[in-house]
Amino acid sequence: MNLDARRYADATQRNRQPILEILQRILPPEGNILEISSGTGQHAVFFAAELVNHDWYPSDPDPLSRDSIAAWRNHHPSDNLHDPLDIDAMTSCWAIENEKISIDAITQCQAFCLIANINMIHISPWKACLGLMAGANRLLSAGGILYLYGPYKRNGQHISPSNEMFDRSLRSRNFQWGVRNLEDVVAIAESEDLELQEVVAMPANNLSVIFRKQ
Ligand SMILES: C[S@@+](CC[C@H](N)C(=O)[O-])C[C@H]1O[C@@H](n2cnc3c(N)ncnc32)[C@H](O)[C@@H]1O
Repeated sequence: MNLDARRYADATQRNRQPILEILQRILPPEGNILEISSGTGQHAVFFAAELVNHDWYPSDPDPLSRDSIAAWRNHHPSDNLHDPLDIDAMTSCWAIENEKISIDAITQCQAFCLIANINMIHISPWKACLGLMAGANRLLSAGGILYLYGPYKRNGQHISPSNEMFDRSLRSRNFQWGVRNLEDVVAIAESEDLELQEVVAMPANNLSVIFRKQ
């Protein structure tokens, strides 16, 4: 294991505590959590250490991110933190479904109590949001939660000048990226049996968006 594979993101370090406080409030007492787009793995090691009654399954389609997640896990091992999975939200069948990964707890219940997706849907094509919602519908247990975090427009309007600038820089990097309109995201979620429960204003003009599987 190359410990230098660990990557570091400032924003992840800053937003982890406010996100943890939301997760602690909305999670059931125990269960499996799937994280889509774990990135560096900093969130995974932090949340798994705090949420000891839950099993945390990180994932990312990027091999260097998976190396980073594994390296962070090696540095801060938790019994409830699992190997990173190779999941691309855009695909219609995720690794955890088609590779028949032998995770006893998951194969027994075939479901997660929460899927977490932090800062992805504006930095990926819209198809990733569609795939995320479809996957959440397939893999969440009834009453399970899809937790999203990131910047959003509301009714087509940016909620701050800094978000507008960020949106412009995202689109200049990749025409398929951009800050999404919350109402569009909610419409897709509803088409996948995910009902909007709560929108929470978070630091730095981000939102926590919480859906519940019907
Ligand atoms: C800005 S990073 C956020 C990482 C982490 N969630 C965090 O907050 O630190 C965006 C992540 O989304 C991942 N990503 C991009 N497209 C994706 C897709 N189609 N499916 C799953 N993850 C994707 C990238 O590999 C990257 O790790």
